[in-house]
Amino acid sequence: MKIGFVGAGGMAKALAGKWTGKHDVMLSGRTPDKTRVAANSIGALAGTASEAVAFADVVVLATRWEDVFEAIEAAGGSAAFDGKIVVDINNPVSIETFLTTREDNRSLTQAIADALPGAHVGKAFNMAQVAVWEDPSKTYDGRKMVTLYTADAGANEAIAELIADVGAEPLLLGGNEHAYQLEAAAAIVIKFLFAGADPQTIFNFIRPETKPVR
Ligand SMILES: NC(=O)c1ccc[n+]([C@@H]2O[C@H](COP(=O)([O-])OP(=O)(O)OC[C@H]3O[C@@H](n4cnc5c(N)ncnc54)[C@H](OP(=O)(O)O)[C@@H]3O)[C@@H](O)[C@H]2O)c1
Repeated sequence: MKIGFVGAGGMAKALAGKWTGKHDVMLSGRTPDKTRVAANSIGALAGTASEAVAFADVVVLATRWEDVFEAIEAAGGSAAFDGKIVVDINNPVSIETFLTTREDNRSLTQAIADALPGAHVGKAFNMAQVAVWEDPSKTYDGRKMVTLYTADAGANEAIAELIADVGAEPLLLGGNEHAYQLEAAAAIVIKFLFAGADPQTIFNFIRPETKPVR
């Protein structure tokens, strides 16, 4: 796959660093020098947001959550995303209240899908910290880490593959109508992280045994 990141910060580097061996990856941040340094450190290309989106089959939105819609505009606006798979990794969570910031009882993911009607959208990678994504093992207590995600039908397969390619096991929660649940769950994770918990112990879903999920 060709994967373009809008963002070149901690999450972009952690995820992209797992994919450069198998996929073609381009990072884009606002600051070209920082973007180049980040991209060089993991063997990715560096570009602008619009170059990264034009390059990509799969776009990962990896700015701070507050910047997502501005970044979409900087990347060329809605039309630039037509036909692309878009992965939302963002947590719209206040670090003062540790509550989600959406006021419409819907998720940021759904708002992104509404803004990008020509794209296939899903949410993944939001429930663990950079340190966990950088961890080469993804195996805890002898079992593989499970990564919950949501996706529309057009994004499902690619996101499952990308989760497997970071070394975790994909578990589909459902369509993007479930994304608010991932955002609220991340608020719990963030609250405990800020209280000093070990990032590898919070909500690390592991499969105790293989059973069909109903
Ligand atoms: N950090 C975590 O552990 C973690 C875990 C799960 C999910 N998340 C979510 O992942 C997202 C990214 O977090 P992060 O920690 O990676 O953030 P970060 O380190 O602050 O990086 C944000 C990146 O976005 C870039 N950016 C901002 N506006 C942009 C625009 N208009 N066009 C292109 N790039 C733009 C910044 O570029 P400049 O530096 O040049 O301004 C920077 O490279 C957040 O929404 C967060 O909720 C984070």
